[in-house]
Amino acid sequence: MSLAFVFNIEKATMRIAFTSCMTSFHFPVQPVWDEIAAVDPDVLVLLGDSAYYDADGSSMSAVKSMSAFGFATHAHGRIEKQLRVANFQSLVARPGLTTYAIWDDHDFMFNGACGAQIARQPDLSPLIAPSRAIFNAYRAALASRLAPGSFPRGPPGFDKTTPAPGYGNHLLGEGVLLHLTDGRSFKKKGGKKALLGTEQVAAIEAACEAADGSTVHLIASGIAFDARNGETWLDCEDEYEWMLKLARKHRVLILSGDIHDNNLATYQLGGGKNLFEATSSGAAIATAVTIGAVQRNWGLLDIDADSVGIQIFKSGTLQYRGTIERGQWQ
Ligand SMILES: [Fe+2]
Repeated sequence: MSLAFVFNIEKATMRIAFTSCMTSFHFPVQPVWDEIAAVDPDVLVLLGDSAYYDADGSSMSAVKSMSAFGFATHAHGRIEKQLRVANFQSLVARPGLTTYAIWDDHDFMFNGACGAQIARQPDLSPLIAPSRAIFNAYRAALASRLAPGSFPRGPPGFDKTTPAPGYGNHLLGEGVLLHLTDGRSFKKKGGKKALLGTEQVAAIEAACEAADGSTVHLIASGIAFDARNGETWLDCEDEYEWMLKLARKHRVLILSGDIHDNNLATYQLGGGKNLFEATSSGAAIATAVTIGAVQRNWGLLDIDADSVGIQIFKSGTLQYRGTIERGQWQ
């Protein structure tokens, strides 16, 4: 299939590619990264599930029965294998590209894993520190553009003080602030539900308040804001409502993953205000990880002073396209 669609929007001042969900055991060759490299982005945002610790030759019960060191070895091996995928390597090593990654359930621990609850489970809580250490090492390797030795040959050390990836933000230029959320460490399904948790929510809000009013806020989230299946922000009404409130005050475009499919959504907030969401998931995976249709999905933002162009691709074909005029973005 042709890539001609990719060049429909002229390269703007800033070009941001985004995608999520790849499993290198079943898919050791991942052509999606060549498609992304062909459009020469400045930034790549990986929206979670860079590896599947609990699938594709492993399982949730296998992960749950691992010792801390056993899990460290297992998870390290899975991330290392992704970092060895030739198509991926040649993209993330490009000199002009900066790659950011957040985690989701499968590269945190297992399907649907809730960090705040696991922290209180004596049988599973020992897996948190090694998981953090490996993800932090993965981020460091990406940040160094895979400099030799940037990813440890064996599992990195970990202890109770190993920090969670947590929340961070990066000013990308052109008045664009990228918010990297941690949707796993503080997640809680029972009792008072949480997705990001109160501290992270407060940090995002403070960053939005501190930014210039015309700033475009890209909020990177592993899970989709609104989805019919699987995990969604709708599972936590408080934080769902908080996001709507945030988008009434600030210009918010959520970038999300998780669903092994693409989507482009506008949430009308009344008074001409909108919250936007661009979802791209399934970089190198099948619908149900190893079975189903093979996905090759990714999205692209072209941002300049006037507009945010959005294109989302499936199997080399443009699937969704939209433009947000920044001047009219209430
Ligand atoms: Fe996934």
